[in-house]
Amino acid sequence: MAERLSLPELPYDYGALEPAISGEIMLLHHQKHHKTYVTNFNKALQQLEDAVSKSDASAIVQLQSALKFNGGGHINHSIFWKNLAPVSQGGGEPPKGSLGNEIEKEFGSLEALVHKMNSEGAALQGSGWVWLALDKEFKRLLVETTFNQDPLVTKGSSLVPLLGIDVWEHAYYLQYKNAKADYLANIWKVMNWNYASEVYEKECP
Ligand SMILES: [Fe+2]
Repeated sequence: MAERLSLPELPYDYGALEPAISGEIMLLHHQKHHKTYVTNFNKALQQLEDAVSKSDASAIVQLQSALKFNGGGHINHSIFWKNLAPVSQGGGEPPKGSLGNEIEKEFGSLEALVHKMNSEGAALQGSGWVWLALDKEFKRLLVETTFNQDPLVTKGSSLVPLLGIDVWEHAYYLQYKNAKADYLANIWKVMNWNYASEVYEKECP
């Protein structure tokens, strides 16, 4: 039997990202939204095991969308919690070292990258994510978007997420209402570039 997913702990308190992201949003986002993806993935996984044991091809195929959606939701949110940090723990401090240099080389400046991610996030219709990605095959940084809960890897098997921004309404609406651009502007104040640098340096030592 496959091991079940579990909801990871947040590495900080729910209110620790204020004022950029309210404690109420963080609590609901983690305890309700992410938890539901975990619960529903585990349910679908159990059903998949039953279907596989019966060699029930149509049931196996029918479960794929639930596995992708809820599994993607778990993968994406698990990254998102880590790629944010309270200001007291370095949130918002610009990237240093090799990642900082690579951002300047690829996008011109950090400000240009932020502008690009905010524009693509704001332009994304419906729900989805905007990513700073590393293509580990070509050792190149790029900005990508994914719809719904599709994880970045659905855009290419060599893509590694360095930072993801959740642009679902559930990530900002309680605090920012329809002002998605304000949410996108403020989230950089709690961006954990240390996390992004660690992932980058692991892939590009
Ligand atoms: Fe979310």
